[in-house]
Amino acid sequence: MADLLFSGVQPTNVLHIGNYIGALKQWADVQHRYRCLFCVVDLHAITVPQDPAKLRKNVLDTAAAYLAVGIDPNRSNIFVQSEVKEHTELGWIMSTIGKMGELERMTQYKDKSAKHAENTSVGLFSYPALMAADILLYDTTVVPVGEDQLQHLELTRVLARRFNSHFGETFVVPQPLIQKVGARIMGLDDPTKKMSKSAISASSYIAITDEPEVIKKKISRAVTDSGTTIEYDEENRPAIANLMTIYHHATGKSMKEIEKEFAGKGYGDFKKALAEAVIYMLNPIQKKLKEFQSDPAELTKILDRGRDAAQEAAEAKMKIVKEKMGLGR
Ligand code: TYM
Repeated sequence: MADLLFSGVQPTNVLHIGNYIGALKQWADVQHRYRCLFCVVDLHAITVPQDPAKLRKNVLDTAAAYLAVGIDPNRSNIFVQSEVKEHTELGWIMSTIGKMGELERMTQYKDKSAKHAENTSVGLFSYPALMAADILLYDTTVVPVGEDQLQHLELTRVLARRFNSHFGETFVVPQPLIQKVGARIMGLDDPTKKMSKSAISASSYIAITDEPEVIKKKISRAVTDSGTTIEYDEENRPAIANLMTIYHHATGKSMKEIEKEFAGKGYGDFKKALAEAVIYMLNPIQKKLKEFQSDPAELTKILDRGRDAAQEAAEAKMKIVKEKMGLGR
């Protein structure tokens, strides 16, 4: 049987091109090599306050986005995390396997808890235990993610090994799958910070639903480095390197080809071409997104099927986990 691939996105706000380039594009590219489970992780989303009506809409929109980027629902299962209760159950168990110190070291927790300093939830802290559960429930071998999730994945591997050594071989130890270039797309307004859905300014990211005019405006305002040439130097010229990375993914051109294309030209020409390329990259996704959003019956069918398939596998795994741990009678 083919290896299992698992990944997920939080249904918070709108997806941006960092999510697309770092994660979803990879999913679409490799889906045919694996049995795939793509999860809308709504239980992760509630680790910071959410408006219930918006959350429900975002859950459906995120599932529609998976389809819009090209996930084939006849091959892969798409489902909503909270509809398969074993995620919460194994999440609790994983929180008993993880150590406080390990979770305290998680960069995402440190960043987010600093932002919500007044009321950091316990869930925000134990978030990686739930993420480990998502992955380990299904004997996942491959997890395609952006670079910011690598630390969580490394912890997942630690928890799997620890569980296996305490209770006997139970979980597969998963591997990350990361883009060679583009695993960390940076903010357009600040190339030292990753592009983020929770950025204060919307000009920091390009949403996959942004209209062409908005995309043009955001790219024209994107910060650049001192210097005038279009050359890839991640260390010394992170802003232009980031824009070139986006251009690379939108056009398929290598960095060398991009440098050649813009030799003797300046930021203005490059930004114009970049805006066109991003608009072109997002156009088919936006069209398909609208189609899926306007056909809730089809989306429901796909999510029901995904839930049933995930449920069956998750129940079987939890039975084994409980037996090994001596839980229940
Ligand atoms: P989330 O929702 O923050 O992000 C979804 C995916 O997008 C990637 N990503 C980026 N990639 C490149 N550049 C960026 N600026 C950028 N920002 C985000 C993320 O790395 C991620 O792959 N904890 C996860 C969701 C999750 C999960 C899982 C993922 C829950 N359970 C199990 C994989 C497997 C998260 O918050 O992703």
